[in-house]
Amino acid sequence: MITVLGATGTVGRKIVHRLLEAGESVRAVGRDRGVLAELAAAGAEPRSGDAADVAFLTEAFRGADAVHTMLPYSPAAPDFRGDQARLGAAIVAAIRQSGVRKVVALSSVGAEQEAGTGFIAASLHPQERRLRALEGVDVLFLRPTLFFESVVAAVDVDDPTGVNADVVAPDVPVAMVSTHDVAEAAAEALRSRDWSGGEIRELLGPRDLTYAEATRIFGRAIGRPDLPYVQLSGDEMIAALVQAGFTADTAALHVEMGHAISAGTIGPLGGRTSRSTTRTRFEDAVAELVGNRQEVP
Ligand SMILES: NC(=O)c1ccc[n+]([C@@H]2O[C@H](COP(=O)([O-])OP(=O)(O)OC[C@H]3O[C@@H](n4cnc5c(N)ncnc54)[C@H](OP(=O)(O)O)[C@@H]3O)[C@@H](O)[C@H]2O)c1
Repeated sequence: MITVLGATGTVGRKIVHRLLEAGESVRAVGRDRGVLAELAAAGAEPRSGDAADVAFLTEAFRGADAVHTMLPYSPAAPDFRGDQARLGAAIVAAIRQSGVRKVVALSSVGAEQEAGTGFIAASLHPQERRLRALEGVDVLFLRPTLFFESVVAAVDVDDPTGVNADVVAPDVPVAMVSTHDVAEAAAEALRSRDWSGGEIRELLGPRDLTYAEATRIFGRAIGRPDLPYVQLSGDEMIAALVQAGFTADTAALHVEMGHAISAGTIGPLGGRTSRSTTRTRFEDAVAELVGNRQEVP
């Protein structure tokens, strides 16, 4: 049996479906009852609860041959760092108390850096450190690069005058990855349990793309081949994110991360390899990205 934390999210939901298709028994942990019902209908055992509740999470992990963990990210939380630390510590305590020995932890490229990477340094770096301190547990750190979804998150597909906008420079090649490929790598690892210690696997997409190129590809898919990518200043980005519900602190973390991406300081440890290069191209994923966006009320 395999437990998936974040089972109702973008990556976790895909992991659950892949595991079920491969004939595995899956415990799906999340809170969205609608998605949990969908996963239950597909054959998973749903567990609804808060990841900050150590007793709940321990029971969800207990008896699992392997567990998928992730650190849910909450940009509207008044105390983002405190919230991440509390959730992260609860996940680690539940691993320890449940006796689980194999953990696949969804992290990010750049998580080795202590500072200068925004969200990654504020949340995933300390979480990797907490997980590494576990004794007798083999943790595989999956470190994907930027998800395709994130690159075009600002586009409103229903607004014919809208733009794509972020602080990342328009012409810097950036590694971008499909969440299907992240889920595939996670599901394979959870099934094979072919790692030991604190191994790191990076997932980099098939090739680097600039934000301007990715925006053009997305624009073509929504019938707007001239969809512009606009590079915002840090202050403009913070104002836009605060309006969208981020706190000033988390908006500043987003900007710091964007500047680090532009500067090329968030990247793979050892460059691209055949293992870290994943197959799905942005061009192949774009129709689904548009479809998902149109489902959002
Ligand atoms: N976005 C990127 O470009 C990128 C790149 C590299 C790494 N990452 C990392 O990937 C992770 C995000 O993965 P994702 O996109 O699949 O996440 P997501 O779609 O935002 O889903 C978040 C999941 O966490 C669950 N969750 C949130 N708060 C919870 C709580 N208090 N208790 C229990 N469950 C809770 C949600 O459940 P409910 O919805 O049911 O509440 C949902 O299943 C983050 O750690 C991020 O740093 C992201």
